[in-house]
Amino acid sequence: MGEPFVQISSASSTALTAGARRFYIETFGCQMNAHDSEKVAGVLLARGYVPVTNPEEADFIFYNTCSIREKAAQKVFSRLGQFRKRGAGSQIFAVLGCVAQQEGEEIFERAPHVSLVCGSASYPRLPELLEQVERGRRVTGLSLDTDECFETELTRRENRFRAYLTIMEGCDKRCSFCVVPMTRGPERSRPSQKILEECRLLADQGFSEIQLLGQTVNSYRDLSPARRSFAELLVAVGQIPGIRRVRFTTSHPRDFTPEMVAAIDACPALCDHIHLPVQSGSNAVLRRMLRGYTREEYLEKTDCIRSARRCISISTDIIVGFCGETADDFEQTLWLLERVGYDQVFSFKYSPRPRTPAGGWPDTVPEEEKGRRLIILQERQRQIQLARNQVCVGKEFEVLVEGFQPKLSQAVGRTTSNRVVNFAGRPEWVGSYMNVRVTAVGPNSWVGKRVKTSTAEAQELTAQPSQQG
Ligand code: SAH
Ligand code: F3S
Repeated sequence: MGEPFVQISSASSTALTAGARRFYIETFGCQMNAHDSEKVAGVLLARGYVPVTNPEEADFIFYNTCSIREKAAQKVFSRLGQFRKRGAGSQIFAVLGCVAQQEGEEIFERAPHVSLVCGSASYPRLPELLEQVERGRRVTGLSLDTDECFETELTRRENRFRAYLTIMEGCDKRCSFCVVPMTRGPERSRPSQKILEECRLLADQGFSEIQLLGQTVNSYRDLSPARRSFAELLVAVGQIPGIRRVRFTTSHPRDFTPEMVAAIDACPALCDHIHLPVQSGSNAVLRRMLRGYTREEYLEKTDCIRSARRCISISTDIIVGFCGETADDFEQTLWLLERVGYDQVFSFKYSPRPRTPAGGWPDTVPEEEKGRRLIILQERQRQIQLARNQVCVGKEFEVLVEGFQPKLSQAVGRTTSNRVVNFAGRPEWVGSYMNVRVTAVGPNSWVGKRVKTSTAEAQELTAQPSQQG
């Protein structure tokens, strides 16, 4: 903390004049980034900035970046390049997030029209950094030496009924392939009391779903006197009146506990879904990845989830083509897919990252072979998902309506197990909970039909004869 401002040049930068404070934020990457952007937007609004949806109209353009894979990191430079070609004019540019943290001041070399480079660990200092930029200076916020989370009451949430809420930040796990410990800093958790107060406030404001966020959310450690375990925190959030759904992401297998499953069994508001990234099904690869568990230990955890009273869906992340991954290692990952029976898989080709331990190791699997393995894995998973989804046809599920597709007159709902269901509906249903019967399924989504659930709803349906559900 306390890192000094780096003022490279004040003459070459553009000062932000009062009255010209329209901002535009583009966000890349994960939910943590999406939520960080909501907080940054809140800070900007409090300083009198006005949001615009078109970057051309903005005085101040923010890119909240991701550097988890090389492609993601490249995106921001291509965006900045587009503006440079056209001439940035009087616009001010800021690079936030993981690329900012990783590339630091080199961003100024590659993109001289950038005025602010700030990693997420420095967001608590954003108001002072912005003040410097407004005076025409070029500044960086790059210190990772922090034990605080970015807390602000100013958060401008994008969604009216579903709220993201950070409970911990950073990561101390240091998987050999991953930039996060270098870009988001050390693991730090918020006191449970503060989290619960914020949840109550969100419930009062009408949010019915809360998504608790953290890079390794279940590594949460409550240092306040309450000393709540992660599972206890989940239950406490789930018991808040008005909160109907609680999700949490991402759980690390090493910190998974059976208490998490017991909490989901005991508390109806906790969603029937655990995202538990495995990365590989081969012990040799897991060892090199420094994941801290074996395939057998991982399977004990998924077996524990499958033994729950409720039917909890399991999703995962997988990297194919990691350094030294043999055809046999890959086969073991395919075996694991079948053995667990995942409900959803996010799969990626290994991308060597600078400053990570594996970044210096030989990247032995050729790009083409990585692509081939990825296609095989995704096809196998498609079949698994289709089979898992087919058993749901004819059954009834509660969904939260999250969107509406006007062209198809379809409502888009999500079950507590994180399945997407499309059904005939109306735009005004967005934000409400309804029951649907599944009529058809694909590997990635379901089609359903709304069903009457209660007398109140039945009356409402008769009062609306034109409704199609
Ligand atoms: N905190 C999470 C993961 C964060 S990154 C965890 O505990 O696993 C999200 C996903 O991106 C990871 O799970 C991994 O599958 C993938 N990923 C991370 N680094 C990667 C790299 N260098 N190449 C390819 N995929 C990567
Ligand atoms: Fe990355 Fe491993 Fe942490 S994947 S976020 S270093 S748990």
